[in-house]
Amino acid sequence: MDKIPDERAPRPRFRGRRVLMPLAATLAAVAATVAVTSAANAGTTLGASAAEKGRYYGAAVPAFKLSDSQFATIVNREFNQLTPENEMKWDATEPQQGRFSYSGGDQIVAHAQSHGMIVRGHTLLWYQQQPGWAQSLSGTALRNAAINHVTQVATHYRGKIYAWDVVNEAFADGGSGGRRDSNLQRTGNDWIEAAFRAARAADPGAKLCYNDYNTDGINAKSTGIYNMVRDFKSRGVPIDCVGFQSHLGTSVPSDYQANLQRFADLGVDVQITELDITQGSNQANAYAQVTRACLAISRCTGITVWGVRDSDSWRGNDNPLLFDRSGNKKAAYTSVLNALNSGTPIPTTPPPTTPPPTTPPPTTPPPTTPPPTGDGCSASVSLNSWNGGFVATVKVTAGSSALRGWTVRVTLPSGTAVTNTWSAQASGSSGTVDFRNVDYNGQVGAGASTEFGFQGTGASPSGTPTCTAS
Ligand code: G3I
Repeated sequence: MDKIPDERAPRPRFRGRRVLMPLAATLAAVAATVAVTSAANAGTTLGASAAEKGRYYGAAVPAFKLSDSQFATIVNREFNQLTPENEMKWDATEPQQGRFSYSGGDQIVAHAQSHGMIVRGHTLLWYQQQPGWAQSLSGTALRNAAINHVTQVATHYRGKIYAWDVVNEAFADGGSGGRRDSNLQRTGNDWIEAAFRAARAADPGAKLCYNDYNTDGINAKSTGIYNMVRDFKSRGVPIDCVGFQSHLGTSVPSDYQANLQRFADLGVDVQITELDITQGSNQANAYAQVTRACLAISRCTGITVWGVRDSDSWRGNDNPLLFDRSGNKKAAYTSVLNALNSGTPIPTTPPPTTPPPTTPPPTTPPPTTPPPTGDGCSASVSLNSWNGGFVATVKVTAGSSALRGWTVRVTLPSGTAVTNTWSAQASGSSGTVDFRNVDYNGQVGAGASTEFGFQGTGASPSGTPTCTAS
């Protein structure tokens, strides 16, 4: 079963407000408007700028650093997505078989929710960072323990995770294009699909990803994964996305974008999940290349950097991140922000060549009517229902003007209750419910879309919700 049909239409590029200018506007006025509009719509943080493009920009964080005020200040200001660096891994969440420990992961989820950020869950099954008891299991006992782990952890976080790395790093390096040997692999080649099916059953609202490294160009390893995803899609194994870790050296493979695109063409989202790039003369440029590649692909839904300051990186002295050891923005930061902002096709009208008028400016006061609001917004729902419950994914699309905020009103059947909401704030849980945008997805470019979701018990809603711009 495929949760959300691949209805995610390519997002129209944000067009700014120029379309609202009177047709008779002079070149000078147009140019002035473009300049103002450009500044007004340019995000000043990574998260805000990515959100304007209908995407997230996130960071991996360890829970204990959220009490470091410099670290938390940067995280809260810049990012609208968090990935727990270690807290949701098997050794952290099930240190003893059947005894689950969620404190670190819960802390990160709570932080994200209270700051309007989404969470990528990382990771349900991986050959590394397994608890000792799992390392010593094999065969059916290990398979059962692994599937139980997926079920328990995905159920605990049900409704709170945007995307799960269900399986991490299961393919071999080198030229074989095959699976990596591991205790999990030795339980049978179908362990990956079994994990994806268990994750879907436990949390039908989360996007389910396969995540790996050294897959950043078209090579034997990425092609092996490509073939697996194609096979899963053809057999109805529930997979929604592929994560490209993108732990890069000093350059980006020339076929980086083409590689992402070939996966997107299979009908899955793609995400850059653990980005870091060795510091050197090309670092800023390489970061911009990755950003532009994602923006060029409508199914590339977001980018996550693997750490915040260089001192937070797992890569020792590579200094591969966007903030230096004192928390200052690096050139790479500016390069990413510019690349995110320049995704907006600002009109290319040349600057006026006519001299400024010599007549005094008109004394007529500026009109007091508010700027036109265009045709507001619309909302459409895609449902995944089962007996007794449903997950609704709602797509909010701006009309001919950019949105600064939105509210979607849904009327629920009698007896239906909302149990979880993500990427929106619900006014209640039954009857007529208003879903308002959260911090990071209120701004939607003209013609562009964003999504939120909710889960409920009872009959699923029917009818088209109304959308109101604010
Ligand atoms: O928490 C213990 C601490 O109690 C102990 O004193 C200390 C002694 O070494 O170890 C601490 O655990 C460390 C843990 O990070 C938390 O800091 C582990 O040794 C260390 O191995 C672990 O490293 C993590 C690594 O995954 C494990 O392979 C890194 O933080 C984390 O950034 C890294 O992340 C991985 C992704 O999950 C998958 N892709 C590659 C990426 C980079 O390796």
